[in-house]
Amino acid sequence: MTIRIETERLILRSMEPRDVDPHIEMMTNPAIARYLAPGGKARSRADEWRAAACYIGHWQIRGFGFFSVDEKETGEWVGRVGPWMPEGWPGLECGWSITSDHWGKGYAPEAAIGAVKWTFDQFPDLTRIISVIDPGNANSQAVARKIGEQKTGEIFEFWDHKLDVWAAERKAWLEAFG
Ligand SMILES: CC(C)(COP(=O)(O)OP(=O)(O)OC[C@H]1O[C@@H](n2cnc3c(N)ncnc32)[C@H](O)[C@@H]1OP(=O)(O)O)[C@@H](O)C(=O)NCCC(=O)NCCS
Repeated sequence: MTIRIETERLILRSMEPRDVDPHIEMMTNPAIARYLAPGGKARSRADEWRAAACYIGHWQIRGFGFFSVDEKETGEWVGRVGPWMPEGWPGLECGWSITSDHWGKGYAPEAAIGAVKWTFDQFPDLTRIISVIDPGNANSQAVARKIGEQKTGEIFEFWDHKLDVWAAERKAWLEAFG
């Protein structure tokens, strides 16, 4: 089943095999990998192929996952944003990564608001949505603030990263953005 969410400038759709190459291109960029890869270093194309298979597989296992984000005007693939909850994760996360050519256009918060709305709609019992963010990742913290998340004080350790858990409560979020 293909899921499609439309925002003002973007289309969000479930990740498909055709998204693997642009996803590898994005993830092998050191600026993107800095806060996402083990040791903060971009991994090989082969490792990122495996990671992309995991993101597509997450859709099969959970029925949801990262959305591919297409720019409406050009049809270009500009990143991945959306719900993510692999085994052992501290909650249902909304994550975001945008190709560096498109940073600063507000695409991550625009896509995240669409994705969080969809997620709260899909899961009526979900009381909060989280984002796990490296304390040095100012760009990502800016996105979290723009979509109404706050730092909780909870820490989640993954690979060699100690990540802050940011969160928004369902009721307050829907009042502000729903
Ligand atoms: C975090 C990220 C998704 C933000 O995406 P975006 O679409 O650029 O989001 P915004 O346009 O709202 O910009 C967010 C902040 O990034 C910074 N920023 C914007 N353009 C920038 C640029 N060209 N270069 C560096 N930083 C920039 C600004 O601090 C901005 O905050 P501000 O609007 O309050 O000034 C993007 O920087 C990214 O993909 N980073 C790498 C992957 C990553 O770290 N993902 C998050 C993991 S938790």
